[in-house]
Amino acid sequence: MQHFRSVNDVDNIQALLRKAMNAKAAPMKNSQLGKGKTIVLLFFNPSLRTRLSTQKAAQNLGMNVITMNAGQSWQLEFEDGAVMNLDRAEHVKEAARVISQYADILGIRTFPTLKDQERDYGEFVLNQFVKYATVPIVNLESATLHPLQSLTDWLTIVEQKKTAAPKVVLTWAPHPRPLPQAVANSLVEWLKKTDVELVITHPQGYELAPTFAEGCQIEFDQKKAFAGADFIYAKNWSSYFNYGNKPEVELDWRITSEKMALTNSAKFMHCLPVRRNVVVEDAVIDSPNSLVIQQAANREFAAQAVLESLLKNENL
Ligand code: CP
Repeated sequence: MQHFRSVNDVDNIQALLRKAMNAKAAPMKNSQLGKGKTIVLLFFNPSLRTRLSTQKAAQNLGMNVITMNAGQSWQLEFEDGAVMNLDRAEHVKEAARVISQYADILGIRTFPTLKDQERDYGEFVLNQFVKYATVPIVNLESATLHPLQSLTDWLTIVEQKKTAAPKVVLTWAPHPRPLPQAVANSLVEWLKKTDVELVITHPQGYELAPTFAEGCQIEFDQKKAFAGADFIYAKNWSSYFNYGNKPEVELDWRITSEKMALTNSAKFMHCLPVRRNVVVEDAVIDSPNSLVIQQAANREFAAQAVLESLLKNENL
């Protein structure tokens, strides 16, 4: 694995999952592996879980961690050939190469514009770092993907499943703001490669990009989708085809106790942060079937597996 941008960078996802499980069983086993190595975590957008869990994972491996907030206070130019006579003080060409002098691994969080679909789905910002940095890049949530979250979610499902091929329902849920499609895209991309029965349910108008939705069971009736589910994964995303917008939805898509009663005593999952009583009722997220804290805890071990593999330059 040269970079960790998406599931497509990993040849053997089962081996990566085992590595995450091993990290969870003995987090300090490889505490000398990263001695003398540095990871730089560059955040163009806010984060609680990704920031802290990746930092903890790197520290478990003995790495130095430098975290930097970019964006508002430190504006970068990304366009090749730009005439930089406005407010952007530095080009990614220099910035990525300079950071590579200090870092052995570079993690980047960069959300989509939700306005320019071609730029977002071309992963323009992440790919400019890949192009100009000289060290491995880790995707800390990019315009269209959140692979560290998806590896975590798969790990959590494997830990909790009671059957070989559980039914996992990814359900759209309401949110006051238009959100990226990254978590949903990425979850689908990962789970398609595993032994789960994946069903996606969302209102019409909220179809995911065809590259991700292709081959998936889609059900527009949320209650029908919930029948017999073992896992309910809730997430809001904005429209892909009406790009970045939030078309009106008539029915109530919140995750409620009544809807959870239609499932096979399903576990409730969400990547967090979550808007309580907008996305999901308190009674569901506070129930013993809620896995949201376990998911957050597993972020550390997913990140540790990825960093360990990059440090060892493994062919995973
Ligand atoms: N789930 C997730 O990525 O959380 P943060 O945005 O807090 O990092």
